Amino acid sequence: MICRAILLLIFLIADSQGIDSRRLEILRGRKNVEDGKVSWDKKFSSEQYIFGKDPADSLTKYAELLPEKRLKVLDLAMSEGRNTVFMAKKGHDVTGIDISSVAIKKANALAKENNVSFKAILSDLMKYEFKENEFDVVLCYYFLERKLIKKIKKWVKPGGYIIFENFTVNDPIESRKNKDYLLQENELISLFRNERIIYFQEMFHTNRKISSIVVQKK
Ligand SMILES: C[S@@+](CC[C@H](N)C(=O)[O-])C[C@H]1O[C@@H](n2cnc3c(N)ncnc32)[C@H](O)[C@@H]1O
Repeated sequence: MICRAILLLIFLIADSQGIDSRRLEILRGRKNVEDGKVSWDKKFSSEQYIFGKDPADSLTKYAELLPEKRLKVLDLAMSEGRNTVFMAKKGHDVTGIDISSVAIKKANALAKENNVSFKAILSDLMKYEFKENEFDVVLCYYFLERKLIKKIKKWVKPGGYIIFENFTVNDPIESRKNKDYLLQENELISLFRNERIIYFQEMFHTNRKISSIVVQKK
């Protein structure tokens, strides 16, 4: 009770002193997007590519399911660009978005190393708006925000493809952390039940429990 009263007093003083909202967030102990960005920047700060330079194994297979022409591809939360660069090397017109400037720098370096280019957007993708029906393909690897699904469906053209992959609640490592960011079994099927499901798998891959799906927007 006394603690709450003291905190309330701090907020009142902070407000009256014009302390900015970020510092207030810190006083309240809440993690905000800015904190997320800082911690991702820190994670990517080593020279090593923490997710590797090679694309996700599933993407090498799923890319073969796509039409054989130059496609407009969006890679959400592209990180250090392993999948972004892979799709650019396939000849596609690729855009990647991420909140971490450090990750984007590494993605650009990887593109240069492979003599390809892509468009990089540094932004919080939860706030960013692409045009409706803008992309032939949207990739979302290991970034699970369920409220983004509706937007992803909007951003892809009718007849276009969404490729989504994430760890599930049964993953031996991730399940020790926050389960909100893990898929339930078969959840991808229900999240995309109104689209045409081209491929779905839920499996142990290199001892990790992963779920992935390829759907075509109706
Ligand atoms: C697990 S990594 C994604 C891995 C990447 N898709 C891959 O397969 O190599 C998560 C990424 O999401 C980015 N991220 C986190 N929150 C974000 C946000 N609100 N907007 C955009 N990117 C975000 C992080 O910077 C990080 O690069």
